Amino acid sequence: MTDKTSNQMWGGRFAAGPDAIMEAINASISFDKRMAAQDIAGSRAHAAMLAATGIVSDSDAVAMREGLLTVLSEIEAGEFTFSTALEDIHMNVEARLKDLIGAPAGRLHTGRSRNDQVATDFRLWVRDQLDAVDQALQALMHALLVQAEAGSDWVMPGFTHLQTAQPVTWGHHMMAYVEMFGRDLSRVRDARARMNECPLGAAALAGTSFPIDREMTAKALGFDRPCANSLDAVSDRDFALEFLGAASICAMHLSRFAEELVIWSSAQFRFVALSDRFSTGSSIMPQKKNPDAAELIRAKVGRIFGANVALMMVMKGLPLAYSKDMQEDKEQVFDAADNLMLALAAMEGMVRDMAARTDNLEAAAGSGFSTATDLADWLVRVLDMPFREAHHVTGALVAKAEAKGCDLPDLSLTEMQEVHGEITASIYDVLGVHNSVASRVSYGGTAPSQVRAQVARWKERLG
Ligand code: ARG
Repeated sequence: MTDKTSNQMWGGRFAAGPDAIMEAINASISFDKRMAAQDIAGSRAHAAMLAATGIVSDSDAVAMREGLLTVLSEIEAGEFTFSTALEDIHMNVEARLKDLIGAPAGRLHTGRSRNDQVATDFRLWVRDQLDAVDQALQALMHALLVQAEAGSDWVMPGFTHLQTAQPVTWGHHMMAYVEMFGRDLSRVRDARARMNECPLGAAALAGTSFPIDREMTAKALGFDRPCANSLDAVSDRDFALEFLGAASICAMHLSRFAEELVIWSSAQFRFVALSDRFSTGSSIMPQKKNPDAAELIRAKVGRIFGANVALMMVMKGLPLAYSKDMQEDKEQVFDAADNLMLALAAMEGMVRDMAARTDNLEAAAGSGFSTATDLADWLVRVLDMPFREAHHVTGALVAKAEAKGCDLPDLSLTEMQEVHGEITASIYDVLGVHNSVASRVSYGGTAPSQVRAQVARWKERLG
């Protein structure tokens, strides 16, 4: 008999239990208990398969499957005592099953290993998260579509280098983010389709000599098929890395938008009013209303991309097949998933609540010679001037307006003609910001008609 203190799951060859430090570095139960539901689903599918293939008796399988449901309800009710000595969720669940049903519990681990078990549990967990992110992205996109539709013809400055470039529409700006989050959505769906293969039955690394049915367990757990190579099945964490990669890019998009909201809500810009629900005050400066939610969203990309880098570093250089290093995968993914979901929900709330200050947007849209390109285009179109020359003439007009301290539409026709004699009064038609945006009807352009077409297209795609 082994020493009582050695591990009851694998302690057969051990004379003594682990050092306290060994137990502390080895145990994962403090975090992998989050996969309890997935672990129990995997074990229930495995038990049913063991009976269907005649590897265990039907009565044992029934006892196991029912006992596992009892364990799940204990965990869900918060009545389960997790033990660090039992290392992880897999052994905690199995030990409790043994308390509940006795001997048949010892047959559950036939034809499998914790290596394929953890790979299966974690895939199921990541798959659920991909679905949750999918939903959250759609909700955010719907909120952006509402803003875009309301403001398809509100003009605002478009920027390059954060310098006023050309007038654009509010709706067009919102729809740029719909495109970004739409790509995030397709990345999430691609990752889901690729990861939906079942490692269960790969056993420790080489498969098993028991006549298991891997198609059956794969199907029961909602996977498209079993993983085709047992070594790869237990050592692959691409699905976690793809989740973190997609999450990182999504968080980067959220961060860019959050930064715009921070700038736009400042006293210097005053482009938007953020709601009280997503702002905070200062404990010393009574006038302050801070865009904290936006700032925190802006920051989340740091930890999410950090998780991506961390897991990439854990995985690099690992020989096939399973190594304990891989236990370090979960905390990174859990933290990234929690924070991405929080950031998506906060952004959705902010977008739903925010109010564009249309007067300020319009005033800003017309400043900074924002219609200079329209003027140059007029010279090309009406006077048949080569664009390079038109650019030069427009530059001279901008210099003149700047010297006078006025905007382009404020120059008189005589002043315009001093720069180029053939300019006529119809040039003023293209200098207004509304004319400017309305004229940009090229596919994907900022014209309200284009924006409305894109809103309709996305509404149909999202359903
Ligand atoms: N807790 C482990 C993990 O998360 C489960 C797999 C352990 N396998 C083993 N051979 N020690 O990776």
